[in-house]
Amino acid sequence: MQGLTAVILTGGPGTRLQPLTNDRPKSVLPVLNKPFMEHFIAYLRQYGIEDIILTLSYLPDVIREYLGDGSRYGVRLTYYLEEEPLGTAGAVKNAEAYLDNTFFVLNGDIFTDMDLGDMLAFHREKKSKATISLAWVDDPSAFGVVETDGDGRVQRFIEKPPLAEATTNWINAGTYILEPGVLEHIPSNTHYMFEKGLYPHLLDTGAPVYGYPYRGYWLDMGTPEKYFSLNVDLLSSKIKSPLVSIQRQNGIYCSRDAVVHPSAVVTAPVVIDSGSRIGRGVNIRGPVVIGSGCQMEDGASIENAVLWNNVNVGAGARLEQCIISGDINIDNNQDVVNCIVTPSETVPLFRT
Ligand code: GTP
Repeated sequence: MQGLTAVILTGGPGTRLQPLTNDRPKSVLPVLNKPFMEHFIAYLRQYGIEDIILTLSYLPDVIREYLGDGSRYGVRLTYYLEEEPLGTAGAVKNAEAYLDNTFFVLNGDIFTDMDLGDMLAFHREKKSKATISLAWVDDPSAFGVVETDGDGRVQRFIEKPPLAEATTNWINAGTYILEPGVLEHIPSNTHYMFEKGLYPHLLDTGAPVYGYPYRGYWLDMGTPEKYFSLNVDLLSSKIKSPLVSIQRQNGIYCSRDAVVHPSAVVTAPVVIDSGSRIGRGVNIRGPVVIGSGCQMEDGASIENAVLWNNVNVGAGARLEQCIISGDINIDNNQDVVNCIVTPSETVPLFRT
């Protein structure tokens, strides 16, 4: 697939992920201590895709600062900025000058191991103009449902149907292969969406639009619960990332310059990043991710948690089922259970 371009939609404000996205877009939230987009780029590189366009709208400079020109990751990154959000299809139209061959479009918040090579072969075999990946979910009522015929040709899109009325469990999984000709059907400089705009319009014109079904791992990390699950799934090897090698280390990855007191008990799966210090008698029960520069003072305990960089956990503190964003101090003997803690607020992680 050398020579193919991928456009990544990274412009949304990530409203459902607040407060984690208050000062950074979801595409750079740390997942096992690496910006989500790094995992994403590594996934694309596995298929030889090295030309990547990032469409930006929310906090664009934060993304550019993290990822630069992409050379660090062996890819070429080109940025297209929207002054006002242009919607998913409008954002791709904005990059039209770059797109003169078959190309991929990917929602920048989906983690999957779907085979892009197989999807491309499907797209070509069907002579499709637009191919939409489909994921099977138990409850499609929060998603865009896609009805297809026996050959995979799309018949109808239904946005968020009530569960009782859903005619299929196949939903739009947010990876598309498009022929450049379809860009003619997207208005310029206008807010325009794929699901509600371009795809129904293509069906009206009789264009061949196909659904590519995929039953493997698929996660939309659009909520804190899903973001947390993604970290846990990677730690426990339910899904693999080309960037994560924890499987090969008996489930415990400890950076060479992290210091773990010999009396600390560490139970896999756990990642401890560089410069972190784990004190006397600390109990770490995975799944746990500890970012770089963290300190866990004597006797602290932590279970089922994700800590970003530079978190200090006081002596005797207990952390359970939580996400702690960067540069936070947890007081001695404090209990933090089922929480997201950021500098500005503390909110429940799982809402029952
Ligand atoms: P968030 O507000 O980011 O949580 O988006 P969402 O996941 O609720 O919205 P949606 O499913 O419509 O977005 C699919 C993908 O497109 C996500 O990765 C969004 O960040 C991205 N996206 C949504 N709207 C825009 C936009 O106006 N411009 C760009 N460039 N990307 C967008």
